[in-house]
Amino acid sequence: MRQVYLDHNATTPVHPEVKKAVAPFLAEQFGNPSSIHWAGREVRREVEDARQEIAAFFGCQPLEVVFTSSGTESDNLAIKGVAYRKGNAGKHIVTTAVEHPAIMNTGKFLEAQGFRVTYVPVNRQGIVEADTVRKAITKDTVLVSVMHANNETGCIMPVAEIGRIAREAGVLMHTDAVQATGKIPIDWKTLPVDMLTFSGHKVNGLKGAGGLIVRKGIELESVIHGGHQERGRRGGTENVVGIVAMGKAFSLLRQGMPEEVRETRRLRDKFEKALFDRIPEIVLNGHPTDRLPNTVNLSFRFVEGEALLLNLDMMGIACSSGSACTSGSVEASPILLAMGADPVDAQGALRFSLGRGNTDADIDYVVDAIEAVVDKLRAMSPLFHREAKAR
Ligand SMILES: Cc1ncc(COP(=O)(O)O)c(C=O)c1O
Repeated sequence: MRQVYLDHNATTPVHPEVKKAVAPFLAEQFGNPSSIHWAGREVRREVEDARQEIAAFFGCQPLEVVFTSSGTESDNLAIKGVAYRKGNAGKHIVTTAVEHPAIMNTGKFLEAQGFRVTYVPVNRQGIVEADTVRKAITKDTVLVSVMHANNETGCIMPVAEIGRIAREAGVLMHTDAVQATGKIPIDWKTLPVDMLTFSGHKVNGLKGAGGLIVRKGIELESVIHGGHQERGRRGGTENVVGIVAMGKAFSLLRQGMPEEVRETRRLRDKFEKALFDRIPEIVLNGHPTDRLPNTVNLSFRFVEGEALLLNLDMMGIACSSGSACTSGSVEASPILLAMGADPVDAQGALRFSLGRGNTDADIDYVVDAIEAVVDKLRAMSPLFHREAKAR
């Protein structure tokens, strides 16, 4: 059966060049980068080369890159690191209602420890308005954390504007750029943020490796206590394989990003247009233009997202729904609800995220499949027939 992968915001396939680059580290290059003998020194060099590549991609200094186990750990380090270090100055954090659970649940955890967290709302198109962040900042605020782009809708947030507001207020600013990385340009030199999260497996690297860029001079409390690795900011022997993979992935991105982004955007736009041309009653969730070039989140009215997802899976098509299955019932995506989406529409939402390797033939196949499945499911929907008759 044909297989088409349209879930690149969940994870991406490992780039063949990345696979080649890590092979020696699964065998002969086994040293511990902290060892001072030849076996360690060789590996240390490779870890530092990867750091240089990543720094060159973002435009930061290599010493500003802290390697972690994931985007999730980087988000924890940014938020808890500031909260614990600056908690005496104030116990208030501002974030948004549409963050990834790595931020949301860290916020909830800190609330249980006596911090106050404001989750600012987004507008109907899924964008955080800078002014709402400005109004949420108080004299007790020590950190603002706003994602660069949303994982479910692809909405791009005005992070630079919010960063300037945070700076004016003398508050540190973090952005979770896990989804934005590699899809839109990011320039650390001009972006007024103090910390930025990235993750290897979203950019054709390996799972289990990520990083936090921390502006020089900013001190964070560690979250993982242990050895002196990462200049004492994150204990634990480095995930050498994952770090080398990220180094390669970012060097490839640096060479090929504009071309890849152009191609992904072309395919995404073709996909979106074909669906809107051929299928009635579709709702776009998210901003029509301030959106990642690879992402489209759609509600197919009168169709359950999960039913559509499972039918497409049976046809070899991988996509995702933001809904969660809780004790047998499917709950609509909290992100779409926070945007003010109709709860029924939110339950019919699917996210398609394109990436490296997708082709025109993939898109043609998926559009035909969606049209057929939506027709089939709507034919079984009494609500669809009632509404259709009423028009
Ligand atoms: C916006 C965002 N932040 C953080 C993460 C977590 O990254 P990781 O899977 O590396 O823990 C993800 C993963 O989906 C994400 O989309």
